Amino acid sequence: MTQDPLTPYGNRPMVTPIVNAVNYEYGSFEVLRQITDGEIDGYTYHRDDNPTVRAVEKAIASMEGAEDCVVCTTGMAACTMVYLTYLSAGDHLILFHDIYGAHYKMSLILEKLGVQITWLDASRSDTIGEHIRDNTRMIFCETPTNPLCKVVDIAALHREADRAGALLIVDNTFATPYHQKPLSLGTDLVVHSATKGLGGHNDLMAGAIAGSKDRYNDLWFTRQAIGTTLDAYSASLLERGLKTFEMRAEKMSANAMAMAEYLAEHPKVPRVCYPGLKTDPGHEVAVRQMHDGFGGVLAFDVGEEQEDAKRFINELKGLLHAVSLGATESLICIPYLTTMLYMPEERRTSFGVKKNTVRLSAGIERPELLLEDLEKALEKV
Ligand SMILES: Cc1ncc(COP(=O)(O)O)c(C=O)c1O
Repeated sequence: MTQDPLTPYGNRPMVTPIVNAVNYEYGSFEVLRQITDGEIDGYTYHRDDNPTVRAVEKAIASMEGAEDCVVCTTGMAACTMVYLTYLSAGDHLILFHDIYGAHYKMSLILEKLGVQITWLDASRSDTIGEHIRDNTRMIFCETPTNPLCKVVDIAALHREADRAGALLIVDNTFATPYHQKPLSLGTDLVVHSATKGLGGHNDLMAGAIAGSKDRYNDLWFTRQAIGTTLDAYSASLLERGLKTFEMRAEKMSANAMAMAEYLAEHPKVPRVCYPGLKTDPGHEVAVRQMHDGFGGVLAFDVGEEQEDAKRFINELKGLLHAVSLGATESLICIPYLTTMLYMPEERRTSFGVKKNTVRLSAGIERPELLLEDLEKALEKV
């Protein structure tokens, strides 16, 4: 009898093997039928499915309390798959200014395809009812938002979406499933840039969309059509990241809280945006819909001008000047000059971001080292 090379004596490897195969030999025509009819999770071709990717999908689905999950090449690929799957020409989409900058580019593509778009400030999400139309098909939001960490009331948005017969999609990248479970609050789909906290080590790009089995089937159809399937090696790195995710999320959020509290008292920091602060406008809703902390990202203004923020960042020794977030290292950047470059200049400051606003993603370092770094750099402002 030939042995299965992955489990020669029935002992399962501790890590899901990286299966780099493009295609798979069918055991029989009956197996081929079962796979193509969706009766079994079998494999035919990498663009369709891959066992290493599938293992990660199941792990993320479980973290989000979802029936299933589709993993893909990047966070923006995940968002794009959601748009392409559920929007058609003539549909109306509500987006918030306070979402990751590349959505602006995506909105130009969607408008070219005939989708109508309304943009709202996340701090005015309570007015969404006034913007809903007969053809509103989708509301897409982040909470906390990027980069100002505004908090959107997911349950309230769900009530409005439900009334309109629209889908509610929440990008849970900033909060992570450790702190927030949007599906339990009525969201139809949760989207992630798994490049961030889920992966966590600045070494992979991936996206994830979690929801019901029916939605999995819809999104799987799109992924197979457009070919945004993640490679097995990145899936393996993501699986490794997920193993320490909860521990990292807890530490990132504790570090973010410590830095937010310190900065909130600092005379050279006129504004701190972090939902964990009792004075933050989003605190009350955040307490209701988040748990075990408020996430690892905060934003704050440094001094009066962009030069102050630049001087501050240049003086930092431990916090690293880079984009991205949710990593083991603390990362800091000026959104106006980086993540928001995708937007026209006048749009970048229209919803509260300033030229001297910095976004800080807490890592898992010792908090006293982070606070010392902030203190010394602020002395130079
Ligand atoms: C909240 C959020 N969503 C989506 C994305 C896009 O993810 P990716 O860079 O993996 O495409 C980002 C990227 O920074 C993000 O911050």
